[in-house]
Amino acid sequence: MAESFDVIVIGAGPGGYVCAIRAAQLGMKVACVEKRGTLGGTCLNVGCIPSKALLQSSEHFEEAKHKLAEHGVNIGAVSLDLKKMLARKGEVVSSNVKGIEFLFKKNKVTWLKGEGRIAAPGKVEVNGTTYEAKNIVIATGSESIPLPGITVDEKRVVTSTGGLELEQVPGHLVVIGGGYIGLELGSVWRRLGSEVTVVEFLDRLVPSMDNEVGKAFERILGKQGMKFRLKTKVTGAKQDETGVTLTLEPAAGGKAEELRADVVLLAIGRRPYTEGLGLKQVGVALDERGRVVTDAHFATSVPGIFAIGDAIIGPMLAHKAEEEGVALAEMLAGQHGHVNYGAIPGVVYTWPEVASIGETEEQLKARGQAYKVGKFPFTANGRARAMGDTDGFVKILADKATDRVLGTHIIGPDAGTLIAEIAIAMEFGASAEDVARTCHAHPSLNEAVKEAALAVDGRPLHI
Ligand code: FAD
Ligand code: NAI
Repeated sequence: MAESFDVIVIGAGPGGYVCAIRAAQLGMKVACVEKRGTLGGTCLNVGCIPSKALLQSSEHFEEAKHKLAEHGVNIGAVSLDLKKMLARKGEVVSSNVKGIEFLFKKNKVTWLKGEGRIAAPGKVEVNGTTYEAKNIVIATGSESIPLPGITVDEKRVVTSTGGLELEQVPGHLVVIGGGYIGLELGSVWRRLGSEVTVVEFLDRLVPSMDNEVGKAFERILGKQGMKFRLKTKVTGAKQDETGVTLTLEPAAGGKAEELRADVVLLAIGRRPYTEGLGLKQVGVALDERGRVVTDAHFATSVPGIFAIGDAIIGPMLAHKAEEEGVALAEMLAGQHGHVNYGAIPGVVYTWPEVASIGETEEQLKARGQAYKVGKFPFTANGRARAMGDTDGFVKILADKATDRVLGTHIIGPDAGTLIAEIAIAMEFGASAEDVARTCHAHPSLNEAVKEAALAVDGRPLHI
C-alpha cells in the first residue's frame, strides 16, 4: 500500500523546507521531495549563502588591499588565493545544507530523494513510487531567465551559478542586468580585480528601488570602479577561445557597437520553475508569467494543492518564501497563518548595503498619498565615521496626517541589519515619532535610523 502523509512538499528550498519543518512541529506527518543531492534549494546551494560567502571574502580582500592602511594597519603585499576562497565558500554551503538535513531528522520530516511529479490530486510520484498526501505543496522555486541569442555554458557565459565558481578572476566581466545578482556578483569580481561593466536595459539600476537611493547607489558603485551602460540592450554574442564579443544597441534602437568580455554574467531576472511537475495534467493554473496562481491562502486551482515561494507571485526572496511556508503550514493545521506583504525587506548585499521596506517615494506619489520625508546621512553618524564607512543615508517616509511609517530606504554600512528595526516598527504600525522616541545605543549605526525618524518632523539633533 502507498505510504501516506498529511503533507508532501515538493522542493526543499527556503519555502519548502521551512514549510515541512513547521508542519511537522504542528504534529503533521510530512515528507519533502528534493531532486538536488542536498537540501536547501537555490538559496543555500547556489544563491544567498554562497554569494554572501564570496561577498564577505572579497570584502576582506578589498579591505586588506585598500582600506586597512587608513586605520594604521600595514600588512604589506596582499595576494589572492581564489582556490581557497572558493573552497571556503563550498564549506559554508556544505555546513548549511547539512544543517537542514539535521533539522529534517530532528523534526521527523522524511526526505523523498528524487524528482517529484503530481500524478493526481493527493498523489505524488517519486522515482516510480506513488505516495499519498492529504495536502501537496509546490515549492519548486525558480531558474534564471535566458536571453535569446546568448548561449550559457557556465564557463564563459554564466548565470549566477557559474558566476559563483569562476576558476580565474576575469580581466573584463560584462554583466547583463543591473539587478540584485548583477550588482552583488559584479562587486565580488570587481573587488577581486576584474574590470566590471554592467549593461542595463532600463535607465536605472535595481528598478524597484527608491529612485533617490538608486541614484546614490549608482554613484557609489561608480566611485568603486564599476562601469554602467544604462538604456542599453545586448542583441548578440559571439564566443571564441578567449572570450565573448557582445553586440550592444541603445534600448530605444540605434547604432550597434561591440563590447569584448572575458566572461559574461547573465542576470536579467528569474522565472518560476515548474517543469516536469505535471501541473497541466492535474489542472493547476499558471499565469501569463508561468507563476502558479494561488489565492490568499496559497491554494491553487486544484483542491488540496498549494504553492509558495519563487513559484508564485511576489518578490523572489528567501525570507518571503519562508514566511509563506510557515503561514501555509499553520493554515493547514487549522491556525491563522499570515504574511504581511507590506513589510518584506529587500537587501542588496554590496558594500555599502542597500535595504528597503514598504513603499518608495515614487509609489507614494503615484497613489496620491500625502507623505513626509526624514533623511539622515551616515557622514553625521559617529559610529560610521569611526568605522570609516560614511557613504549613504537613511530615508524614512511617513504618512503626512498620521505619521505612520510607510517605507524606509537605507544605503549604508550594514543597511540590511538596520532595516530590521523598521520591519518591526511597521509590523506594529509605528509612527516615525515612535521610532524617534525609542532610545538607541550610542555610538551605533542605528542612531542614523533614529535621526531620520526625528528628521521626519524636522528636528534631527546631529545635523
Ligand atoms: P528554491 O530555493 O529555488 O528551491 C526549490 C527547490 O525545489 C530546488 O532545490 C529544486 O531542486 C527543487 N525542485 C524543483 N522541482 C522539483 C521537483 N519536481 N522534484 C523535486 N525537487 C524539485 N534571496 C534572499 O532573500 N536573499 C539573498 O541574499 C538572495 N541571494 C540570492 C543569490 C542568488 C545568486 C540567487 C540565484 C538567488 C538569491 N536569492 C536571495 C533568492 C532566493 O534564493 C530565492 O528567493 C529562494 O531560494 C526561493 O525559495 P524557494 O523555496 O521558493 O525555491
Ligand atoms: P533582477 O530582477 O534583480 O534584475 C534584473 C535586471 O536586468 C533588471 O534591472 C532589469 O531591468 C534588467 N534586464 C532585464 N532584461 C534585460 C536585458 N535584456 N538586457 C539588460 N538588462 C535587462 O534579477 P536578477 O539580478 O537576475 O536576480 C533575480 C532575483 O533573485 C532577484 O530579483 C531577487 O529576487 C533574487 N536575488 C536576491 C538577492 C538578495 O536578496 N540579496 C540576491 C540575488 C538575487
